[in-house]
Amino acid sequence: MPGKVNVRALSKAKAKRGRRLGAAMRKSRWPVALVLLVVPLAGCTAPSDPAQGPITTVDRATDGLAPARTTEEVRLANASTFDLTAGLVSFDPGTGARIRMFAYNGQVPGPTLRVQQGSAVSVRFTNALPYDTTMHWHGLRLDVAMDGVPGMTQAVVAPGATFRYELKFPDEGVYWYHPHVREDLQQELGLAGLIVVDGPRSPAEVWPREQTLVLDDLLLEAGDVAPFQEEEANRALMGRFGNTLLVNGAKDPVFAAAPGERLRLLVLDASNARTYQFAFPGAARVDWIGVDGGFFETPRNRSAFTLFQISPGERLTIDVVMPEAGNVTLQLKTPERTAGLARWAVQGAAVTTSTPPMGPHARAAADLLRVSEAARKPPEVTWDLDVDLAAAPGAGSPHAGMQMGRTPARAPQPVEWEEVDGAANAQSTPADVRWILRDNATGAENAALNHTFALGSLVNIRIRNLADSEHPMQHPIHLHGQRFVVASRDGIPNPDRAWKDTVLVPGGKEVMLTVEMANPGTWMVHCHISEHLEAGMAGSFTVA
Ligand code: C2O
Ligand code: CU
Repeated sequence: MPGKVNVRALSKAKAKRGRRLGAAMRKSRWPVALVLLVVPLAGCTAPSDPAQGPITTVDRATDGLAPARTTEEVRLANASTFDLTAGLVSFDPGTGARIRMFAYNGQVPGPTLRVQQGSAVSVRFTNALPYDTTMHWHGLRLDVAMDGVPGMTQAVVAPGATFRYELKFPDEGVYWYHPHVREDLQQELGLAGLIVVDGPRSPAEVWPREQTLVLDDLLLEAGDVAPFQEEEANRALMGRFGNTLLVNGAKDPVFAAAPGERLRLLVLDASNARTYQFAFPGAARVDWIGVDGGFFETPRNRSAFTLFQISPGERLTIDVVMPEAGNVTLQLKTPERTAGLARWAVQGAAVTTSTPPMGPHARAAADLLRVSEAARKPPEVTWDLDVDLAAAPGAGSPHAGMQMGRTPARAPQPVEWEEVDGAANAQSTPADVRWILRDNATGAENAALNHTFALGSLVNIRIRNLADSEHPMQHPIHLHGQRFVVASRDGIPNPDRAWKDTVLVPGGKEVMLTVEMANPGTWMVHCHISEHLEAGMAGSFTVA
């Protein structure tokens, strides 16, 4: 138990369902998810008191913590061993203050791991945090025992303990790593890093200079992060939307680039809840290269004002060609606001603009051929996304609708770009709000959801985000251990096919995925909004 714990008054209702740090953090998530199935019943008879705050706030002391360092890139050779430690640092979120954060090898975001496709690397992981944790290698098709899901694939790594992860990298592309215990707290506090897997590179091709961009938002209140609860996630309704937007851990960073330079951006959304939409005003040219782990069959030329969307867990690969002079801005642009996230100052001697290397696209095109036929089959399963707000703050009151963000004046939005009604959201916990992933055919929900797919098959999975749910909201759905192509959205074939592992399903919409069931085991499927995962929105599927 960390020191300096501020225990607030416990109401009877909260005390009854309160799971103390020892219980909640040391138990695996999977049994916790099972417990959640029965919790809303208790919540019905004991509604939460809006005036009461968190049960136990987490330790925020920064005494003696080393300052976080910026991200380094490490190249890991085949058969090498890499030491990775999760620990505490102090961090300046762009305000000049120092706050307590978590870091991998002292870096926020964690080191970028670069490997050659087909290699195998051993990661000797040490947990120097005062909490249980695990490592999840998002998007990598590795052995299920290395997938980092507590209670499903491994036991948690306790404070002071180590675990050896044997990684393999069968696919070229962009992946990432993060904890799979209390992501609402651990990922928010800085635990995330990128993995870049290089495919074969022909010497005849000019590879653009690559730059990684990790998008994250921190919710700051009174100079520190808004309180977390030791026992369970808060902000379970919409997730934790931050008010401080960071790129690679920095506010408004300025990068240098040469006139005419083609820069390849590898972008990750490591936020708990925020979906971003952005453009590149000032760019001479923009080519969209790929998504998640995959490359498109050909690069997609876009304009400097094309809006790209990225949701938690997703990656985008975008080439931006610099103009002769001036600036290129990474500009956030949603119906709610326009804001600069980062900027490239164009300077120095002009360079000849290169063309995108075509090798990865040729390989993707060959690889995606067999997907087209499979995409025409009917779905093998339909998963519905829903929510049960029976016990949510304000439920049953005349203002319940407003508190859930559904005023008559404001119809459900396909994407909530910002938090709606922060007060109700701030109070909501997994005990009040149960997000649901449901098998449409069997009715099985969350921890009870499991379907077995044939190893080696290409199957279609339909995911419907129910428009008539109590709070329709976008959900980035992530399948562990396999890869898929988004075949269609609302019945319209997807023109931009590439291998993915996370898909945004907007409120009231549906997607069809063609999934390659190539990696045996029982794997997790869940919403990548950290608080929705904590509020139950996770099931499993088996490939055998
Ligand atoms: Cu990015 Cu289950 O995780
Ligand atoms: Cu969700």
